[in-house]
Amino acid sequence: MPIEFAERIRRIPVYPAAAGYALDGDIALLASNESPYPPIPAVMDAVTRALGSLNRYPDPTCSALRSALSDRYGVPVQRIAIGNGSCDILLAAGEALLEPEAEIVYAWPSFSVYPHLAAATGARAIEVPVDGEHRHDLDAMLSEITAATRLVIVCNPNNPTSTALSLEAIAAFVRAVPRHVAVVLDEAYCEFNLLQDPDESIALLDRHPNLVLLRTFSKVYGLCGLRVGFALCGSDEFRTAVDQVRQPFYCNAAAQVAAIEALRHQDEVTRRV
Ligand SMILES: Cc1ncc(COP(=O)(O)O)c(C=O)c1O
Repeated sequence: MPIEFAERIRRIPVYPAAAGYALDGDIALLASNESPYPPIPAVMDAVTRALGSLNRYPDPTCSALRSALSDRYGVPVQRIAIGNGSCDILLAAGEALLEPEAEIVYAWPSFSVYPHLAAATGARAIEVPVDGEHRHDLDAMLSEITAATRLVIVCNPNNPTSTALSLEAIAAFVRAVPRHVAVVLDEAYCEFNLLQDPDESIALLDRHPNLVLLRTFSKVYGLCGLRVGFALCGSDEFRTAVDQVRQPFYCNAAAQVAAIEALRHQDEVTRRV
């Protein structure tokens, strides 16, 4: 008799890039949006120094990394979540917010992990087609929000269409979303948006406790192999909830020191962009 798995195992899509890693040879997985540049020497040195302490568990609260992020972005430490990549926070948000009968709204096509959230939790996914210029149709997304909606994701700039929304459009959207709905603004590529200051969205957090800005060290910092991402949240509750549904040591020791060191080299971020 075969093992009897949970119903959700049949629903959860297999991550599309996974098969590519088995290929031999010099193949670039363009869909993964990796940086072509290796981590900077100072980050590699910091990671090398951390290797001698790998017999110890990492700091489960990521306190030094959260204070470094707090200093940089002016967001209190208790409103900063860290993850094993930003995907970890995204999936934890699904687990913390969704359940059967609940709804999640996001644009499509967008980041391939979003459909996992509904599949893993039994919630209903509402995929709103991007408009004729491959942009999020924010009005159409708003019209899909109901009393059952728990989570809305806006990917800005959007993967895979690379279209970006203005801060004004996002601000108006977040204002119109009811307070009980969490809005995750996935800003994995915000540093590459040359049309406006990537950190302008942070000011929205003070006005919207239901807003979460999702960011990552995987892209512009070139650290996707270590897995570390973070969320800047409008209130403590989101951070508490995503921490509650995950294992205590979700961010490894090398990733924590690498991220702290990488943050110190913003000139390198600018150069790479
Ligand atoms: C839009 C978007 N969000 C989040 C991620 C996840 O990045 P990570 O889990 O490496 O932080 C990616 C990675 O490709 C992405 O494209």
